[in-house]
Amino acid sequence: MKKILVIHGPNLHLLGQREPAIYGRVTLKQINNELRKIAQKIKVSLTIKQSNHEGEIVDLIGKAKFKYAGLLINPAAYTHTSVAIRDAILASGILTVEVHLSNIYSREEFRQKSLISPVAKGTILGFGANSYTLGLVALIDLI
Ligand code: DQA
Repeated sequence: MKKILVIHGPNLHLLGQREPAIYGRVTLKQINNELRKIAQKIKVSLTIKQSNHEGEIVDLIGKAKFKYAGLLINPAAYTHTSVAIRDAILASGILTVEVHLSNIYSREEFRQKSLISPVAKGTILGFGANSYTLGLVALIDLI
């Protein structure tokens, strides 16, 4: 069975209560349940992690190289700042789909740049929790 790693970046554990006008009312647990349902149907195995720490995310991606066929990641605030996460994706060579709940290009200027998009196979954004399910289906399709 193919294995996929899902990484949720900083503050995403607060989904549901965090700025609901932007991120919606769906909790991370609900998103993860939807992802697991899709994975079960298509028969892929999912490992899901959430971390508020850049180094921990770098470590997860570094260890993912030989273990996972693909990475679904919402790097959250690190999207806009983390050369280290970008380099980890490049170094591991892992097939990566980037997702965002909000449309970062319609928000503050500092969010309008993703350091991750150039090293991802594709990016899905702006569809709320659906960005994750669309991203997972796209990733499985590529695998
Ligand atoms: C986000 C967008 C980021 O700018 C922000 O820092 C997040 C969430 C999104 O999913 O819309 O934490 O990645």
